[in-house]
Amino acid sequence: MSRKPIIAGNWKMNLTHLEGIALVQNLSYHLTQDDYDATDVAVIPPFTSLRSIQTLIEGDRLAIRLGAQSCHHEPSGAYTGEIAAPMLAALACEFVLAGHSERRALFGEDDGVVNSKIKAILGAEMTPILCVGETLEERDADQVEAVISSQVTGSLAGIAAEDVAGMVIAYEPVWAIGTGRTALASDANDGCGVVRRTVAELHGQDTADAVRVQYGGSVKPGNVAELMSQPEIDGALVGGASLTADDFAVIARFKRL
Ligand code: 13P
Repeated sequence: MSRKPIIAGNWKMNLTHLEGIALVQNLSYHLTQDDYDATDVAVIPPFTSLRSIQTLIEGDRLAIRLGAQSCHHEPSGAYTGEIAAPMLAALACEFVLAGHSERRALFGEDDGVVNSKIKAILGAEMTPILCVGETLEERDADQVEAVISSQVTGSLAGIAAEDVAGMVIAYEPVWAIGTGRTALASDANDGCGVVRRTVAELHGQDTADAVRVQYGGSVKPGNVAELMSQPEIDGALVGGASLTADDFAVIARFKRL
């Protein structure tokens, strides 16, 4: 089964909306329709930039896709400071991250919370990008497979096979995020393979063959081609290198290297 690659840039808490507009304009200058035909290219800015970038994408008819970094699991209500999934859908967001390791580690989000967010994202007809991955301690203790499989299983509880098939799951080993320490391509492939095997155990091989699995963690222009040549890796979730249009464009065009 052929899965369309997806390269997404998670800006995290970086860039004002003016800086974000400049980045997307610059990025669109580098990318051609052939690039978008070959690969889904998405930017995932902070909430404050979503409206500006939506307007830019629609006004210039760009094929860049838009995502958000998180959402609350309730569709509305007295949750000061939070953003609901239907608000993101109204801004033409197609993707929303759920379970990023920074949300898990710094904001106490466990698999139960991630699971309710995924249901909210699907309920608003967007595509969740579920993030999973082990810490260095867990890797050293030989728990990589157990951690990935339990995060995938817990986060996907009660979600129908057809919804899982349309999702994106990012394997992001925590020790490789923002550290410059990329996983070996073979380890990245193995981690993505565990994600897919877990999905197969939960929902069967057809669902596992359909779901797109990204690798994330210090992806750069210099390592993207090798990572993307691995059979289990369908894309990349890029942090730091997505903040520079030149670098992100090279990553998005990995096939042409
Ligand atoms: P870096 O590419 O900066 O390591 O970040 C990866 C990441 O967390 C993407 O979600």
